[in-house]
Amino acid sequence: MPTLFNHTDAELDSFAPRILNWFDDYGRHDLPWQQHKTDTPNPYIVWLSEVMLQQTQVTTVIPYFKRFMTSFPTVQDLANAEWDTVAEHWAGLGYYARARNLYKGAKQLVEIIEKTGDFPQTVEDWEAISGVGQSTAGAIVAMGLHSYGVICDGNVKRVITRWAGNEGDITKSATTKELWALAERLTPIEDSGHFAQAMMDMGATLCTRRNPNCEQCPISDDCIAHAQGREMDYPVKAKKKPKPSKFSNALVITNARNEILWLQRPDSGIWGGLWVLPLQFEQKTLGKDVVSTSEQDSTYETENTVSEQIVDKWLANNNLEATSISDDLFNSSPIKHTLTHFHWYLQPQKLALNDEQSQQLTELLKKAEINLMWLGATEAEATLGLPKAMLKVLEVVA
Ligand code: ADE
Repeated sequence: MPTLFNHTDAELDSFAPRILNWFDDYGRHDLPWQQHKTDTPNPYIVWLSEVMLQQTQVTTVIPYFKRFMTSFPTVQDLANAEWDTVAEHWAGLGYYARARNLYKGAKQLVEIIEKTGDFPQTVEDWEAISGVGQSTAGAIVAMGLHSYGVICDGNVKRVITRWAGNEGDITKSATTKELWALAERLTPIEDSGHFAQAMMDMGATLCTRRNPNCEQCPISDDCIAHAQGREMDYPVKAKKKPKPSKFSNALVITNARNEILWLQRPDSGIWGGLWVLPLQFEQKTLGKDVVSTSEQDSTYETENTVSEQIVDKWLANNNLEATSISDDLFNSSPIKHTLTHFHWYLQPQKLALNDEQSQQLTELLKKAEINLMWLGATEAEATLGLPKAMLKVLEVVA
């Protein structure tokens, strides 16, 4: 019988049993969030770990996951925690939008549990939770509820594009559709949670991006990429445009007690809701024409938060200027921090205020309802959940 796929029905049908046998013998069975051996899986554990694992490697996630589970053993504990406490637990994992979504998602889940008495039960209902996409929802339903769910994340896409010899660009929606259809066809109805675990291990340990171990692979016999000797050509992914670069000063403004001014960023945008130093974006671009004046104005407004604009104006009005850290070597190479959509060059600048000045600035910011804090470097590091780039700045000014 013809199939939509590049393999026969017999090959498609035997895919899952081969993967599951391999996983039982050689897979990882001791990851702290795994629920495949318990009769009463905990969807909270799977949801939390899957969100953490979305863009971060297993070995990095493990200690963070354990700390979260100690401090917030249930979704109610997480939802009822202060945001600053959650941010502090997340600090260092990066991609802070995930932490914000996790916190928002916890509150949504608690509301649903209060209404229905239980966690969401379907892939669709999980997809409605902040920060949960289609694949994460499939993973939670399959592994956290032991119901039927399909996953098709980056690892799975790599395994199945190689096996199927699918040359479609995985950034295109037509290819995504094909791969989801194939993932569905390959997922066993009865055992989808076990299969999801097994596919994650395949992608992470055998069918790796740079160094696939085809000798040990349970599906290499009918893997099209392997037959072609072209494993590394899959998945096909259109080259990304180079990331743009942005430049800003990171102002270390101190008061007479040598405490540093920290501002809480607005909820949306870069580092939403986190405590950071006041930044001043500069009109410099790398590898591009200099922008026109009107564009510069709009960049200023969009890049600088209201609080930063207030700080900026106050400095200008008082003829105060922050000065670069007096280390020439350093001045020529600001801190480089790479985010999802751009490289960010941060130039630490120092400015010491006297009592009167710091009080004036504080009052001005408070009048505009800006959340601010004066806190020494050590204490800020310990309590504010600062983004990594801020820690780098503190390192050079300390
Ligand atoms: N990557 C994403 N989810 C994972 C999981 N549950 N186990 C291992 N690696 C993963």
